Amino acid sequence: MKKLLTFTVLLGAGLIVFGCKGDPTLPRDVKNYDDPLMQHEKEISGIISKMTLEEKVAMLHGKHMFTSEGVPSQGIADMVYADGPFGIREEMEPHSWNSLHLTTDSATFFPTGSALAATWSDGIAYLYGTGMAREARLRGKDMILGPAINIQRIPTGGRTYEYLSEDPYLSSVLSVAYTKGVQNNGVAVCVKHFALNNQETNRGSVNVIVSPRAMREIYLPPFEATVVEGNAFGVMSAYNKINGYWCAENYELLNSILRKDWGFKGMVISDWGGTHSTVESVVAGLNVEMPNSQYLGQALLDSVAAGAVSEDVIDERVREILRVRLAVDPVPENKANVEMTAKPEQAQIAYQVALQSIVLLKNEGSLLPIDLNKVKTIAVIGDNADKIMATGGVGAGVKALYEITPLAGLKNRIGDKAKIVYAQGYTSQQARGGFGGFGGGFGGFGRRGGATATPAKPDDTAKKLQDEAVKVAKSADMVLFIGGDNRSHETEGSDRRSMDLPYNQENVLEAVAKVNPNVVFIAVAGAPVDLNRVQACCPAIVQSWFNGTEGGNALADILTGESSPSGRLPFSYPFNLEDSPAYATGSFPQTDAPVNQDVFVSLVQEDSKAEEMLKGATGRGTALYSEDMLVGYRWFDTKQKPVMYPFGYGLGYSEIEYSDFAADKSEYRDGEVITVTLKAHNKGKYVQCDVPQVYVHRVDSKIEWPYKELKGFTKTVIYINPDPTDVEIKIPVESLKYWDEAKHDWVLEPGKIELLLAHDAGNVAGKVELRIEN
Ligand code: BGC
Repeated sequence: MKKLLTFTVLLGAGLIVFGCKGDPTLPRDVKNYDDPLMQHEKEISGIISKMTLEEKVAMLHGKHMFTSEGVPSQGIADMVYADGPFGIREEMEPHSWNSLHLTTDSATFFPTGSALAATWSDGIAYLYGTGMAREARLRGKDMILGPAINIQRIPTGGRTYEYLSEDPYLSSVLSVAYTKGVQNNGVAVCVKHFALNNQETNRGSVNVIVSPRAMREIYLPPFEATVVEGNAFGVMSAYNKINGYWCAENYELLNSILRKDWGFKGMVISDWGGTHSTVESVVAGLNVEMPNSQYLGQALLDSVAAGAVSEDVIDERVREILRVRLAVDPVPENKANVEMTAKPEQAQIAYQVALQSIVLLKNEGSLLPIDLNKVKTIAVIGDNADKIMATGGVGAGVKALYEITPLAGLKNRIGDKAKIVYAQGYTSQQARGGFGGFGGGFGGFGRRGGATATPAKPDDTAKKLQDEAVKVAKSADMVLFIGGDNRSHETEGSDRRSMDLPYNQENVLEAVAKVNPNVVFIAVAGAPVDLNRVQACCPAIVQSWFNGTEGGNALADILTGESSPSGRLPFSYPFNLEDSPAYATGSFPQTDAPVNQDVFVSLVQEDSKAEEMLKGATGRGTALYSEDMLVGYRWFDTKQKPVMYPFGYGLGYSEIEYSDFAADKSEYRDGEVITVTLKAHNKGKYVQCDVPQVYVHRVDSKIEWPYKELKGFTKTVIYINPDPTDVEIKIPVESLKYWDEAKHDWVLEPGKIELLLAHDAGNVAGKVELRIEN
């Protein structure tokens, strides 16, 4: 049984949406996705019948670091992959990670996953996919290694910045739209990492133990939607184990769920170095071992010869690859990499994403937008004001053609309307673990189980930087403190040890706020950070992100009121890390195994540990998902734990009020769609993009549910108009089902439910009660 999603997407490349000045929810996508993968079955049978076993097996493993073989004897091109997911990665030598130093491979740096999710706009996600695909084509790529859509289970996750949300519905809507944007423009997606790669700590060996219900309702829906509705052509199996089996050889995951339940017709590739067996993998449904041939090369030929695996299975795996190969036109070699990848159209898309992603968390005394009639000197303080975020840390980065930093954006937009004075304030260059004497400890070594900071004298550089910051703050009318994390602090391959703001920045911030109370703190981060000390000294707080090529311009446009902020948090912001579910239940960090060197780092370094890791000899560590379905706001709501900022939260410069919340009927059955309507009133002076959210609360249920769950939302422009704007949101009854573990199926529970109209998970504005009948 399939669950359905409804959503709107933008049609057409080149269609630019002007933030809150236009409508991000434009026409529905009408393209018919009926199985483009199934158009060539006969032709594929013909191709396979002419192939030798050696040719077939040659397709099932990496040829180069980012390619796998086609069928050269029949003129069928290799598959060319591109990291993904937030910009087309630079060209590397075929068998190493060394750059080729081309002059044409500078790409657009798109805002990373959590930024995209903060737009809460499927239209924007569609545009994002379009832009990625256009640049992939210019580079001769067939498949983008993205979107990355694992649920953000822990606030400290190293790849939270790359993933979308803690909520499966929000993640699903955006991932489907991203996928359609990419695949409508001639490139395949490879949705990753399938599945339950929700932590970086020991990702190459950890065994995730999860209930079938939590798996089906929380962790798998974004993948299911991307496959079923987005018709994703590719899936990447994750590094970890689930319930005892590596994802790359997990029969239940790859065969029973992905291929049988969801009807997936495309190809599965392993994460880099994530294959651990020959027969088990190929039988379970893995198509390509990347990037090597340790298991699906000669070892596979030997296994066929020994009768351990039949050639029919090999044929099936080859067929699945050929379906994708024939659905995506290869870019002729003489057309790839002949012109610069990054194009102004894509920079415009990156700008739109960034503009709609920025979240205004606090604005006491309407400090924002900056009133340039009154504010004559602005102190911009912070390492992140002038830091590039396209690269850093482990994993895919983007060789960006350019990146507008916050400082550059402010200078561009403010020009001579005010004087900008800059001080770095703190530096991210210092070795981790210092500054104990400054009062806070910092970095990845915060409150929980980390190294205890020994009191030390603040070093001279830190003192000098802080003094300079205080000096410029004194001389200014207001301060924009641009702090947060960076791409080395939030990185693939490891999780943060705490949410603490790194590099001593809170001490500098407090010193600055003492001499100038008009401080706006801007958190440039892909994940939640600890804002407790920031709250106490800053009247205004903004969450920005690793926000791409045009990030600085977008931030400046929000801060100066050129556009009103319309981003909404894609995750909850806890007061303390210990409040969040995986920490509160003691299921993360795991203590049953030492932290291994990361599998990818080992692969890149090709050191002795790599061999051990790749063999999978060390299946270490168990992640017991004991919070079950209570991930993110589901936990905080159900356990009545307060949060600093709830999921879905974000202010604008105009206040929006809702009224007339209603459903079209009072009773619904399976297969029907609930249509809810409301009126949104703009009470302010700014045209405002707003995101009404509808959650479902079960009133008299016999089974356990989270207190409420997001089931519908829409991003809409609310113009300044005496008449309110009518908004409609559709919720398929199908999406209210739960996974019945005994029946092994989706089941609709009859009974009373409440639809909650909300500004965010913590602010319910209206209720409607309905009955669901079977
Ligand atoms: C990451 C993948 C990525 C691959 C290739 C792996 O370490 O987990 O997301 O696509 O490397 O760069």
